[in-house]
Amino acid sequence: MTTADRSPGRHPGVGRVRPGSGPPARLFNSAVASYAVVTAWEVGLLDEMRASGRLDIPRFAREHDLHEPSVRAVLQALEWAEVVRVTDDADEAKPGDAFAEVYATKGFFGWLLGGCGELLRTGGTVARGGSQGRARIRRDAGRIGTGTADFGRQFIDPVLHRMLEEIDYTCVVDLGCGNGDRLVSAVLARPGSRGVGVDIAPDAIEAARRRVAEAGLLDRVALVEADARRLEPRPEFADVDLATCFLMGHDFWPREDCVAVLAGLRTVFPRLRDVALGDTYRSGEAPGPELPILTLGFEYVHALMGRYVPSLDEWRDVFPDSGWRCHAEHDVTLPPNTKIFHLVPAC
Ligand SMILES: C[S@@+](CC[C@H](N)C(=O)[O-])C[C@H]1O[C@@H](n2cnc3c(N)ncnc32)[C@H](O)[C@@H]1O
Repeated sequence: MTTADRSPGRHPGVGRVRPGSGPPARLFNSAVASYAVVTAWEVGLLDEMRASGRLDIPRFAREHDLHEPSVRAVLQALEWAEVVRVTDDADEAKPGDAFAEVYATKGFFGWLLGGCGELLRTGGTVARGGSQGRARIRRDAGRIGTGTADFGRQFIDPVLHRMLEEIDYTCVVDLGCGNGDRLVSAVLARPGSRGVGVDIAPDAIEAARRRVAEAGLLDRVALVEADARRLEPRPEFADVDLATCFLMGHDFWPREDCVAVLAGLRTVFPRLRDVALGDTYRSGEAPGPELPILTLGFEYVHALMGRYVPSLDEWRDVFPDSGWRCHAEHDVTLPPNTKIFHLVPAC
């Protein structure tokens, strides 16, 4: 070993780079900044900054009953990611270059780190534990619903609403309704229509109930806590003529189960005429610098949970065997690799 090799700061094979800088530092800091996005959203900081174009840090902390050093730490992490800029006197923060884009996509951060945070943290147990490890999987349905509602409202609803204008419906069921946002907007879009939300998670049903009440639709929308893969006919389902299902269709898989669920819909909902099924499919993309937001996290989380994510071709291939014809496919810009399939009975 030469004298230069032993000099302080020298790392074999890395040259004169400071240890822990470069790729590992970027990776580490982006994890911190991503959590800061979720915290800033949760405490109202992102909304305040968007509404006012600035943030008076001491006042914001005081008025929201927040620990000011924590708020400053969140801002520092966001500043690293160029989401905000803290002014020189350090008492005011302003939106940074990345603010608008991060604000628009905050739901993806909430979905991953808020909704799937415990699963990510216990990945080792899950991977090591086989079915036992998987049985311990915990996800936060409330936070998942808040995340999907946020990006769904911006990116899915406009496409869905264009579709709904062409569908004649009086009663819509939303399978995997989450916090009810999409269901409420479908019912509001059609005067006099009614709705039914189905979700397997009690937290999601609770959140949906609050959303339905907020929209003043308690007399027009019923909520049912049930597994959408194993539904039986019931009085609330008798008039359903449109079924929607967003961001959970992959839970119907593997293929033979999906065929059974889709084929069974017409028995469970005897008047069903249209289905709008929107889901993110397996990308098949190699991880690289062009990989968009969500894809890596979506496929990672589902692999940990042992859930199959079908490809676009697999989706296209399953409809004819389930008694449905795909009348149209609609792309949404985000989530990436997502389509809304408009299905009608094959005969
Ligand atoms: C990713 S969230 C999407 C929520 C909502 N559709 C939206 O677009 O905002 C998936 C939802 O499906 C629900 N879910 C998952 N598997 C289900 C099943 N087998 N039956 C009913 N709901 C299910 C989850 O509890 C969760 O609320």
